[in-house]
Amino acid sequence: MEVKVSRRAHFNAAHRLFRQDWTEQKNDTVFGKCNNPEYHGHNYELIVSVTGEIDKETGFVMDMKVLKELIREKVENALDHKNLNTQVPEFKHLNPTAENIAVVIWNRLRPHIDHNKRLEIVLYETPRNFVTYSG
Ligand code: NI
Repeated sequence: MEVKVSRRAHFNAAHRLFRQDWTEQKNDTVFGKCNNPEYHGHNYELIVSVTGEIDKETGFVMDMKVLKELIREKVENALDHKNLNTQVPEFKHLNPTAENIAVVIWNRLRPHIDHNKRLEIVLYETPRNFVTYSG
């Protein structure tokens, strides 16, 4: 019997979406306000879900204390109040779109979750815009 357990988390971060190899006009057309050269912030909401069998002894799919600490250490400490473009190594040559941030978060957490369990990341960049990545 498989169950999905989820933990909600939050971080604030600044970013800028642009491509060096594009003209200013093309960057403005494609990325709009997210191409502000002085960066801008978002309040990111994150839902981390782990799906797997319930452990017969504990009754847990995953100990939520462990998941909470993992998110704190690998996601919040790394991304909260950071400039994603300049302070987070994964985005040195990768646009910090919601899509790419979700993939980076998944990659950071995946090695620390039991290999027989599935990991899903839902990332809200605004209350209405969100992306899902599950590997
Ligand atoms: Ni933005």
